[in-house]
Amino acid sequence: MKTLTLRRPDDWHLHLRDGAVLEGVIGDTSRHFARAIIMPNLVPPVVTTADAWAYRDRILAALPAGDRFEPLMTLYLTESTDPSDVEEGRKSGLITAVKLYPAGATTNSHGGVRDIDKAMPVLERMAKIGLPLCVHGEVTTPEVDIFDREAVFIETVLDPLRRRLPELKITMEHVTTADGIDYIKSSKSNLAGSITTHHLIINRNAILVGGIRPHYYCLPVAKRENHRLALRAAAASGDPRFFLGTDSAPHVDPLKECACGCAGIYTSVNTMSCLAHVFEQENALDKLEAFTSLSGPAWYGLKPNDEMITLEKRDQPVNFPSKRDTGAGLITVFDPGFPLHWEVL
Ligand code: DOR
Ligand code: ZN
Repeated sequence: MKTLTLRRPDDWHLHLRDGAVLEGVIGDTSRHFARAIIMPNLVPPVVTTADAWAYRDRILAALPAGDRFEPLMTLYLTESTDPSDVEEGRKSGLITAVKLYPAGATTNSHGGVRDIDKAMPVLERMAKIGLPLCVHGEVTTPEVDIFDREAVFIETVLDPLRRRLPELKITMEHVTTADGIDYIKSSKSNLAGSITTHHLIINRNAILVGGIRPHYYCLPVAKRENHRLALRAAAASGDPRFFLGTDSAPHVDPLKECACGCAGIYTSVNTMSCLAHVFEQENALDKLEAFTSLSGPAWYGLKPNDEMITLEKRDQPVNFPSKRDTGAGLITVFDPGFPLHWEVL
């Protein structure tokens, strides 16, 4: 039997939602992860430091008894975000990052940024105080093909912003293309990228071949196989600029299985097992800890967790629930399409 012991992992991009969904899903993260960067795209979004304090309280109240878990809060950047409020949130220790959603790019992003010029005062303040910007890196221009939106974002938004404000620390979240990987690798400083579990496992065929499979639809949408392979190589390389951000994004089944289904894949339940499988396939089990537990904290200026977790490889496949039952309804758990043998003890 094989075992693997790692520092307790963190999730550097997570959607927990609110209310009954929050209560139903949080235990799936706090079971394995010590900390997570919590996305602010609620309805209404988490815009001010006061909003973030209140949301943090609701998250802590929803935690299963006995679980230790630290939500790392973010603010949803708008064109009228107050730089002083952001600075105050940072100084109080509450705010770990600010999130840029280009308006219209994804779930609940309509209040996001249309004109980046309008957000410059906040971004300048963040650069000054060393507060990272987390970026949903897709343009929303209707003329741009959805599979090209990340590459075009790098060229037309991210690179110009980095030239304009090189002191700003930017996390390019859920990188899905070889273009993104190459861009991060070519940068000299102040740029890193998170990679999801599912983008290491599925390509766009998973969504479309043999019928339309809404539970594999997320944003940025999964790309061609060559991109998936580039993501795997980057994750398994041990390069500290790449780390885990699951983007686990629960939506109840009726909101996924309909004529206009929501984007989001719910991976919190089996993420660590999926990753051990992927890293073993890449002959890189020795790099898993860097990806899940070391490179993220280093980038965000935090210490790695003191606690350890152990994974064990079983002869028989591990059974995971296919659905998570919440007070708001059933949420489908990510099916990697192969049996999982690694289990977190
Ligand atoms: O697939 C996604 N789901 N991508 C996002 O950017 C947002 C997320 C969500 O909130 O559901
Ligand atoms: Zn997300």
